[in-house]
Amino acid sequence: MYSTLQRLNHLSSLATTYVMILLGLISAASFLALPQVDVGKVDVKDLLLHKGRLQRWGARVEELASVKFDLRTDLNPLLNSYNTKQLFLYLSASYVEQSTGFTHDVVLWDRIIQRADLRDIRAVGNKVPKTRAGKQGRGNIRVEEGKNKYQWRNPSGTFRDVEYANMTLHYSLMPYVGVLSSGIAAVAPGPVTIPELIKR
Ligand SMILES: *[C@@H]1O[C@H](CO)[C@@H](O)[C@H](O)[C@H]1NC(C)=O
Repeated sequence: MYSTLQRLNHLSSLATTYVMILLGLISAASFLALPQVDVGKVDVKDLLLHKGRLQRWGARVEELASVKFDLRTDLNPLLNSYNTKQLFLYLSASYVEQSTGFTHDVVLWDRIIQRADLRDIRAVGNKVPKTRAGKQGRGNIRVEEGKNKYQWRNPSGTFRDVEYANMTLHYSLMPYVGVLSSGIAAVAPGPVTIPELIKR
């Protein structure tokens, strides 16, 4: 004869096992059925090089780049998935330094989109652009005249031997259960030329 406590113990461990199996199935299903995203467009409108310092004690004067950009992409397929908790979007510049041959990847801007603020996504830019009929949707990302949120500097202090950079908007999808997945949300149509330094 089992005692009541033993029975209860057995039952609860069985329940835990079932829950674990269920979570495993959900995570496998959403990993296999990862929604496809149509790659949108990054429009670099302005790229300037100027001399400046990072806001850090003892920082030396070096070349800094500032960027203005528009973003357009449709992430509805990701947001409509039942297992999406939040999205992390980030714009990166990747470029090769000619002298060393090193590839650099720099994050210029980012934004977290929670499931709860799905309704506000279109307001991510400075102003909310007008929508065309039939083009509405909660996951339509529109950023107009976005600016780099983080300083863009090159480790060598100069962009002299950098010819161009690729601009890409990446996403990371954080699910309720399962593994993080990521992909590309938008790209610039071609490499962006690094301009001459502005002399003052
Ligand atoms: C930039 O994009 C081009 C074309 O897609 C690719 O060939 C090149 O390797 C990329 N450069 C970097 C630094 O990622």
